[in-house]
Order: sequence, then C-alpha cells, then structure tokens
Amino acid sequence: MRKMNWSPECKTGFDEIDSQHRLLFAISNELLDIENPVRQQDEIKYLLHHLLDYTTIHFKTEEEYFQKHNYPSYKEHKQRHEEILLEIKNTIKNSKSMTELKNNLDTMLDKWIKIHVLIEDKKFSTWAESKNIIQKQS
Ligand SMILES: [Fe+2]
Repeated sequence: MRKMNWSPECKTGFDEIDSQHRLLFAISNELLDIENPVRQQDEIKYLLHHLLDYTTIHFKTEEEYFQKHNYPSYKEHKQRHEEILLEIKNTIKNSKSMTELKNNLDTMLDKWIKIHVLIEDKKFSTWAESKNIIQKQS
C-alpha cells in the first residue's frame, strides 16, 4: 500500500506544525496499512475518529499561526481546511461498505495530505520566509 513518507521537503519550518504533520502521516499510514477492511472495521473506525479529531486540532493550530502573523491568504487557506474536513466526513458518510470506505480513504488520504502539506502549507512557509518570520528552509 502507498505509504506516506516524511521527507525534508515536507518541512514548513514551524516546529509545531511539522510535528503535527508527522502525526497526521502516521495516522494515515495506519489506515493505509489496513489489509482486511471487513475484519478490521473496529480499527478503521478508531483510526478515523482520531484522524478527524487530530485534523481539526491541526487546522486550528495552523489558523492561529496565520492570524498571529497576519498571513494574507488566511481566508482561502481556512476555507480549504473546511473543505477537507467536509470531504473526510462525506467519504465516511457516503461509503456503502467497509471495503468501499477503505478504497475511498486510500485515494483521498494520499491526495489531500500530500497536497495540504506539500503545496498549501508550503505557500505559508515560503511567505513566512520572505517576511523573515522563519529561516529559509532547505
Ligand atoms: Fe497542515
């Protein structure tokens, strides 16, 4: 199964955000590792509960950083956070079986976490570098 590997290019330069991203990768990898969605449905439910809770906490943390530093793209980024949370909830709601849920999660997790970390949060990181809020990331 596709594994989400942490690499230096994932770093935003904000330690708290980076460590939360690592944990999000870890929870997602646990979900991606599930081999038998029917037999492991309790595990899927448990992990999804954590994923939703932790993603909500993570987005709040990021939004606090955006506000603290007057990030000009705050509104758009916050809107993306809301869309992602809705997408996870809809995936859970609209999947008709555990196997379908697992397949949908595999596609969605891989996509949204990578886009979120490598593209959207990188924009904040690059902006913060340009304002000397953080040091230039390698
Ligand atoms: Fe993030």
